[in-house]
Amino acid sequence: MEKLKPFRFSKRFDDVPLIGSAFAGEHPGLIPLAFGFPYPNSFPINELAESVVAALKSEGTEALQYSGGPGQKKILKWIRERSRLRSIDVETDQIMITSGSNQGIDLVARTLTDPGDSVWVEAPVYFGALRAFYLAQNELSAFPVDGDGLRVDLVEEALIEAAAGKRPMPKFIYVLPNYHNPAGINLSVERRKKLAALAYKYNFYIIEDDAYVELNFDGDFLPSIYSFGPERVIYMSTFSKIVAPGIRMAWVISDPEVLSRIKIVKTEGLTSVLMQEAVSCFLEKVDFEDHLRPLVAGYRMRRDAMVKAIGDFFGSEVSFEKPKGGFFLWLSFPSEIDTTKLLHDAVEAGVSFVDGKSFYLDRKPTNNLRLAFSFCDEMQIRKAIRILAMVYQKQKNAVC
Ligand SMILES: Cc1ncc(COP(=O)(O)O)c(C=O)c1O
Repeated sequence: MEKLKPFRFSKRFDDVPLIGSAFAGEHPGLIPLAFGFPYPNSFPINELAESVVAALKSEGTEALQYSGGPGQKKILKWIRERSRLRSIDVETDQIMITSGSNQGIDLVARTLTDPGDSVWVEAPVYFGALRAFYLAQNELSAFPVDGDGLRVDLVEEALIEAAAGKRPMPKFIYVLPNYHNPAGINLSVERRKKLAALAYKYNFYIIEDDAYVELNFDGDFLPSIYSFGPERVIYMSTFSKIVAPGIRMAWVISDPEVLSRIKIVKTEGLTSVLMQEAVSCFLEKVDFEDHLRPLVAGYRMRRDAMVKAIGDFFGSEVSFEKPKGGFFLWLSFPSEIDTTKLLHDAVEAGVSFVDGKSFYLDRKPTNNLRLAFSFCDEMQIRKAIRILAMVYQKQKNAVC
């Protein structure tokens, strides 16, 4: 046999950093505050097991065929009804099931852009979305967030520059309005309205990634960006945070013209039709509010445990916005602290988190880090924060 020669893979891979769960998987045995995963007890294992069996028994032939059975239609109706509670009023032909929201982001990026097109994101930004945009070979610019979410005023200034030909106009802006990953903040209603108005004025799309909307600890829901601009917003949400990520099921909502193009890009055809039948049985079987209540309570408890432990072990040395929902808390340290160095020491001491630079385009050292309160139990969270505070004190003493 001839000796293997080196093979040149697609140049698309050259700029894609490996972040997040890839990192977490390399360090077993740590208390994983890096994991943006649901806590394992949250999974409705028995109900799902019964639903899979019921789906196979009642829709067997169709559930195993390419085209699926009645499940998809039922799920679309469920999503339509649920979306109405979130101020999104659409017909089922405006909803498409995808294999997770990550696939939705990927499909939308490839539908709306060509390589080299400009895409604007938040800083910090969810790195799963960044991966899709790098692979679509988009040119990325980032705009900061503050306690009220994306600085839409800075976006507007940049759009005025783009309209004057001083920089490229974005094809879309990717925004996470509720319980931001990683920043844990919400986009204010005024900014939602303003951003939607800008999308019409300057003719770009907004991708509204609403993965965490249902995990609301305070009971107040803000209107979606979609509700202010249905022709220029592509909305997405997911069953990953409210049922289980392993079922890989999420949805995209947009106008039918965009959806018809996304369907062409989605070369796999329909998302797992067997799982759609099973999820449809599950949604028929459970009272969704009864299912959601303890789930959200579990996340609220974990958030509270983390906030308390930070207060107890760090005092006023660090700052953060208390998340009103979701999975994440974004911690800011004094400016001399580099959280990438802190991560190194934390891993040695038995705790993982994601360092701030992983959420920025320039990947420069930062004094922020992302803690996930979603996965660990309260005791682990308290122990991890205590360890983190010790590691921090050591680094602070070394810097001073
Ligand atoms: C903001 C955001 N969007 C999308 C996803 C991906 O969700 P899915 O499991 O539906 O692909 C995640 C998962 O962590 C996320 O945090």
